[in-house]
Amino acid sequence: MKSGTSTTIEETLDPDDWKEMASFAHKVVDGAVEHIRNVRNRPVWQDMPDEVRQSYKVPFPNDPQPLEKIYRDLDENLFPYPMGNINPKFWMWYMGAGSFTGALGDFLAAIEGSNLGGGNNAAALMDNQVVNWLKGMLGFPETASGTLVSGGTIANTIGLTIARNVMSGIDIRTDGVAAIPQPLCYYASDQVHSCHQKALEQIGLGNKALRKVPSDSSFCMDIDALKRRIAKRVVARLVS
Ligand SMILES: Cc1ncc(COP(=O)(O)O)c(C=O)c1O
Repeated sequence: MKSGTSTTIEETLDPDDWKEMASFAHKVVDGAVEHIRNVRNRPVWQDMPDEVRQSYKVPFPNDPQPLEKIYRDLDENLFPYPMGNINPKFWMWYMGAGSFTGALGDFLAAIEGSNLGGGNNAAALMDNQVVNWLKGMLGFPETASGTLVSGGTIANTIGLTIARNVMSGIDIRTDGVAAIPQPLCYYASDQVHSCHQKALEQIGLGNKALRKVPSDSSFCMDIDALKRRIAKRVVARLVS
C-alpha cells in the first residue's frame, strides 16, 4: 500500500455468486420435497452407526466450510436419523409434525428478517393480526394483549408470571418476590406438565406453590376437590 492511501475491505454476508447460491437453494428445496414426499417409505427411526455418532465429535471448524460439504454431511449424518415424529407411523408420543408449507413459512420469515419487537413494518402488523385472530378464537376481549412465543414452556412461564404479578398485591416488578406479603399458590390438575413446576421455580415462588388437585378417570380435574382445597386454604388464612 502506498503511503497516504488506504484500502477499505468490504465485509459482506452475501454469497460470492448469487447464481450459484440460487441453484444450490433449488437443490436444497428439491431434496426437502423428496424428504417429505417419501417419509412413509422410510423407517420411523433407525439407530446411528458409530461413524455417524463420531461425525458429531469432530473439532470446531476454524475455516469456512463449503456449503456443498455441509449439505452432504446433513444428508448422510442427520436426515436419515430423525426422532421419527414426522413419520405417520410414529406413535411413541404426541409430538406434532411440521408441514411443508409451514417450513416454507419459516424460510420466508427468516428471509424477511424483521425484528418484531415493534417498529413501523408489515411483519409486526402481521404478528399482531395473528395474535388478534387467536384472541378471537379463544373468546378473549379486544383489549387483551398477547404475544407469539416459541412453545409451551415459555407460554406457561409468561402466563404464570402475569398471574403472579397481578395477584401478588404489590408492585412486584419494582419490589421483587421477597416483598410478597403472603405465599402465593397455583392449583393445577395432577396431570399438569412439568414445565409449570419449573416455571414456579424460575419466577421465585418455589415448586411448593404448585398444588396438584386429583383428576378423575377422564383425566379432568376433580372440581369438587379443587373447591375443597381452596376453601381449606381460605379458612386456614382466616384463623391464622
Ligand atoms: C402439556 C404440555 N405443556 C407444555 C409442554 C412444553 O412445551 P415446549 O416443549 O413447547 O416448551 C409440553 C411439551 O412436552 C406439553 O406436553
